[in-house]
Amino acid sequence: MQIFTNIAEIQEWCKAQKREGKTIGLVPTMGYLHQGHLALVRAARQACDIVVVSIFVNPIQFGVGEDFEDYPRDLTKDSQVLEQERADAVFAPSIKEMYPTGYNSFVEVLGEISSKLCAKSRPTHFRGVTTVVSKLFNICLPDKAFFGQKDAQQVMIIEKIVRELNFPLSIVRVPIVREEDGLALSSRNVYLDADKRKQALVLSKSLQAARELIKSGERNVDRVKALLTDTIKTSPDANIDYAEIYDAADLSELDVIKGQVLIALAVKFGTTRLIDNLLVEV
Ligand code: PAF
Repeated sequence: MQIFTNIAEIQEWCKAQKREGKTIGLVPTMGYLHQGHLALVRAARQACDIVVVSIFVNPIQFGVGEDFEDYPRDLTKDSQVLEQERADAVFAPSIKEMYPTGYNSFVEVLGEISSKLCAKSRPTHFRGVTTVVSKLFNICLPDKAFFGQKDAQQVMIIEKIVRELNFPLSIVRVPIVREEDGLALSSRNVYLDADKRKQALVLSKSLQAARELIKSGERNVDRVKALLTDTIKTSPDANIDYAEIYDAADLSELDVIKGQVLIALAVKFGTTRLIDNLLVEV
């Protein structure tokens, strides 16, 4: 497995792979890899000849006062794990390599899709994500790029830039990976102490309760949302950022549940903000 830190070098290497007719699968990550990331790597390994994993804690997607400095990092362990997963290359650039002095180009999606859910409390987040992901697409030249469904809004926005900016690649969504007790895997779970870790189970429980209510015939969005929030509030330290239900295609508003809907949650436990979601089809 090759480890690159330099943009020109990995771009040349990717071009050489393509000249040999190989397909490239890119897995963009911020490192501190867990089984959720490895599911992306395995999906890429199955679908493509070459697997490139980027590891870059992208400063421009963190807002002021967010956890950029504290975000967990372990490049040595990540590299060992990726070697075992038979990744072909890791791209782990420095901040200066990605954003040299004077850097001033950004990719931004406007409209409903990037103004609700996480965008409300993190107004500059998606601009940071779409900018870095666009750069990674241009650097690593993937045929397919793999993203987790856990960041549902992120993957929708990335699909939109791929469509609208004509990036010559396809996006593969990989289902959420959960612990046995239902907690969705996240690098931020390491911030939770034992008590908050237990309380955080209310996320997946409330999503399941909402799904059951819909399956039993309830179609009123407000009533399903009320069940979601009531269930979350049974955890004393849960502080709801949002608990919403939108059309899964474009995050448009719904009064009545129909078609495929996205039930999306962001909840703070102390200073740790967790997200989770569920797609339900009626
Ligand atoms: O999902 C993430 O880990 C990040 O937002 C991504 C896509 C790697 C961009 O920095």
